[in-house]
Amino acid sequence: MARVIAISNQKGGVGKTTTAVNLSSCLAKSGQRVLLVDLDPQANAGSGLGVYPDQFEKSIYHVLIAEHPLAAIILPTQVENLSFAPAKQDLAGAELELVTMFGREVRLKEALEPILDSYDFIIIDTPPTLGLMTVNALTAADSVLIPLQSEYYAMEGLSQLVTTTTLIKKRLNPGLEREGILLTMFDKRNNLSSQVEAQIRQHFPDDVFKTVIPRNVRLSEAPSHGMPAILYDKMSTGSQAYWEFSQELLARYQPQKNARAPARSKSMARPLATHSFDHTEI
Ligand SMILES: Nc1ncnc2c1ncn2[C@@H]1O[C@H](COP(=O)(O)OP(=O)(O)OP(=O)(O)O)[C@@H](O)[C@H]1O
Ligand SMILES: [Mg+2]
Repeated sequence: MARVIAISNQKGGVGKTTTAVNLSSCLAKSGQRVLLVDLDPQANAGSGLGVYPDQFEKSIYHVLIAEHPLAAIILPTQVENLSFAPAKQDLAGAELELVTMFGREVRLKEALEPILDSYDFIIIDTPPTLGLMTVNALTAADSVLIPLQSEYYAMEGLSQLVTTTTLIKKRLNPGLEREGILLTMFDKRNNLSSQVEAQIRQHFPDDVFKTVIPRNVRLSEAPSHGMPAILYDKMSTGSQAYWEFSQELLARYQPQKNARAPARSKSMARPLATHSFDHTEI
């Protein structure tokens, strides 16, 4: 049964898609069967994998609006074990079209049900909004992974995300867990990054992944070559960091495979906090 992880933060440009593409690729390279679902009308995850709109006709739009089977839109990728459910820009219209539809928040959850056993991980990339796409992702997910950019105001808006997840837990998905916070675009030459990291770790002592993703130009170049970083430049610091991150995450579910990493079983994963974060402290 797949572990479904939604990557979410309504702040734009914090590394959601970069994390979705590279985490999925690294998990797949580790032998996991992975499906990456693009729920963002910007469709950046497709470019990151080298999958472009002229290569497919039906997309996640048809799954959400017309109840087209999800399995029928899934494409292979250049990474073995990694499949992709693509989006096109028409997905932007789905937000409005879904409003009057029955079961609008559970459309993705229902679409995923028949294929849960075909994958070990299903990773969902979401847009920088808290609209119906993100609500569908959080309703379908077992957990939410929050990329935070290592800069001041990193936690700005986090309280809105927590309010949304709390509401979703209450109304739509009581089992939703917090996978954790991933610090992205860390600049080790800049003291500010370290200060922000220290503050975030202090604020969320148990929720921040040990691995930190550095700012690395190879990570931003890779999508223009249509490749995940691990294929574009395996030895870059960015690729290595995402590899380490994937192993840290995997160790939670396969503790025996990586004895050095601290294990956290599914049942130990903590529920989402119900309080709001005070981002003025950061
Ligand atoms: N660690 C990194 N080092 C350098 N550049 C990065 C890093 N992570 C992401 N980027 C670049 O920063 C930009 C924003 O990243 P990304 O698209 O992953 O963010 P996002 O949260 O998905 O954005 P959006 O909210 O628009 O969906 C992209 O150009 C990406 O290539
Ligand atoms: Mg994105």
